[in-house]
Amino acid sequence: MSDINLILDTADSLMEISSRDIKKVPTLRGKSIVNFFYEPSTRTKASFEMAAKRLSADTLTLSATDSSMVKGETLIDTARNLQAMNPDIIILRHSSSGAPHLLARYVDSGVINAGDGIHEHPTQALLDLFTIKKKKGRIKGLRIVIIGDIAHSRVARSDIIGLRKMGAEVTISGPPTMIPVDVESLGVKVILDPVKAVKNKDVIMLLRIQLERQDKVLFPSLREYAIFFGLNTQLIKGAKKDVIIMHPGPINRGVEITGDLADGPFSVILDQVSNGVAIRMALLYLLIGGGKGDNLD
Ligand code: CP
Repeated sequence: MSDINLILDTADSLMEISSRDIKKVPTLRGKSIVNFFYEPSTRTKASFEMAAKRLSADTLTLSATDSSMVKGETLIDTARNLQAMNPDIIILRHSSSGAPHLLARYVDSGVINAGDGIHEHPTQALLDLFTIKKKKGRIKGLRIVIIGDIAHSRVARSDIIGLRKMGAEVTISGPPTMIPVDVESLGVKVILDPVKAVKNKDVIMLLRIQLERQDKVLFPSLREYAIFFGLNTQLIKGAKKDVIIMHPGPINRGVEITGDLADGPFSVILDQVSNGVAIRMALLYLLIGGGKGDNLD
């Protein structure tokens, strides 16, 4: 919990850099960061790159399709070759759960998990915690519901762990086929009926339906998912009056959430994206720049 608080407090102090005329400080000048994305990404890839550039680090972004992976090179061999160029941090997104942990065993540079398979997405959870704290002033004691494909969601797993550590009460909801069997062991309550699950909640977190990760269809159709589990103006009525709506993106408009709610006053979806840059700046600063009296002016 103290590590999480340190990261959130550091992000808070770095946030204003992004609203300056010149959005750059010299803190990580001379440091090299490799952004290695084996899976598609908009928010995470862009915000890590932007965070690194705002701290003056040199960045290199590689994807599976423009690397020698297409010629059959393995992840470990690719990483060893990158390591030979002596980067300070390798940021990895990969479709296989555990890939960043494997990589960390083979390279000397720091490795940051930017989302691995259906396992974890820790920097998303940190930016979600940061967003909740900024909007609500606290995390402890808040009542939060996560609705959607919990079983296939790395975001849900990291959020549940982070929110529980910070003292929030977490409920999960969704079709029974999308609820992992042992999920209560993470300290969450399961309420399948979204009308009951949303009642009196401070925060509603929605998850993207990840059709690309499902071996078989876990519900009859997207339309039926939208009718039974999609957030709409009727469903949100049971939540607290000052509820906030979160979604890690990308949104399937009209499936997890109606377009008017996604763009409406309860939505903090784009705040999550802005806060993601600050969180990733904080992580880079703490990992390779912090504690050395570095200049943030
Ligand atoms: N939230 C998230 O991970 O989005 P991207 O896949 O666009 O990075």
